[in-house]
Amino acid sequence: MTDSDHLNPPSHSASSQEEMTDFGFRNVPREEKKPLVRHVFESVAGKYDIMNDAMSLGIHRIWKRIFITELGPAPNLKLLDLAGGTGDITFGWLKRGGGSAILSDINAAMLEVGRERAIKEGLINRIDVREVDAESLPFPNASMDRVSMAFGLRNCTDKNAVLREVRRVLKPGGRFCCLEFSKVAVAALSPVYDLWSFQILPRMGRMIAGDSESYQYLAESIRMFPDQETLAGMMREAGLEHVSYKNLSGGIVAIHSGWRL
Ligand SMILES: C[S@@+](CC[C@H](N)C(=O)[O-])C[C@H]1O[C@@H](n2cnc3c(N)ncnc32)[C@H](O)[C@@H]1O
Repeated sequence: MTDSDHLNPPSHSASSQEEMTDFGFRNVPREEKKPLVRHVFESVAGKYDIMNDAMSLGIHRIWKRIFITELGPAPNLKLLDLAGGTGDITFGWLKRGGGSAILSDINAAMLEVGRERAIKEGLINRIDVREVDAESLPFPNASMDRVSMAFGLRNCTDKNAVLREVRRVLKPGGRFCCLEFSKVAVAALSPVYDLWSFQILPRMGRMIAGDSESYQYLAESIRMFPDQETLAGMMREAGLEHVSYKNLSGGIVAIHSGWRL
């Protein structure tokens, strides 16, 4: 694959769409995506936090702070953090006055790093750590006040299933907030962003985490993720209401919000 191929996602025939899905720019059978994603996060778990700081020059911390403000932590509210990984959103929620929290992720290696961090930060007694597939939630209907998902939805095979499950577990009056990479809305940013994503990130991945492929996947998966309006439409389709979004950093990421009424 050449460098320019990385900038041009492949197109697929309509007939193959049902059984196939994207794994970065590769088109893979749907049942293969989960193990492939699992491998990515098992590989990077130990270096995930340090890589986040390096890749975003620390800016992910600002995005996450704004995201947690959007979630509106309050002591009487219960949070389900989906694809919570090493715990940034769960910890931020608790530190800023949120009520009980479930740190959930499909990947035990990521959760283990999160658990160790929670112990170090003295938060472990306030967190329920659960291995959970966001596409099929083991929680009762109408049991959560807030559901968060930061940089997780992109990695799921059946994103519509995730959104339906989110709505199901939210209480009436509950809110879902999603922080994800999105479509850059400032044209002047695009060339620099492409250079950063496809040239620099994989090299950083190799140097810091000893794994360039996982960071190549990261860059590709961002380009394959639905843009702001498409994701908002998917959330409405899943039954969420008052759906809105706001771009951060010129649309490099967006925060989507929807309510269960
Ligand atoms: C980029 S990390 C985000 C972690 C954390 N939310 C953060 O913002 O730092 C993506 C996470 O999604 C998780 N993930 C992927 N597919 C998932 C699924 N089907 N259900 C739950 N988590 C999933 C991965 O294991 C990984 O920990």
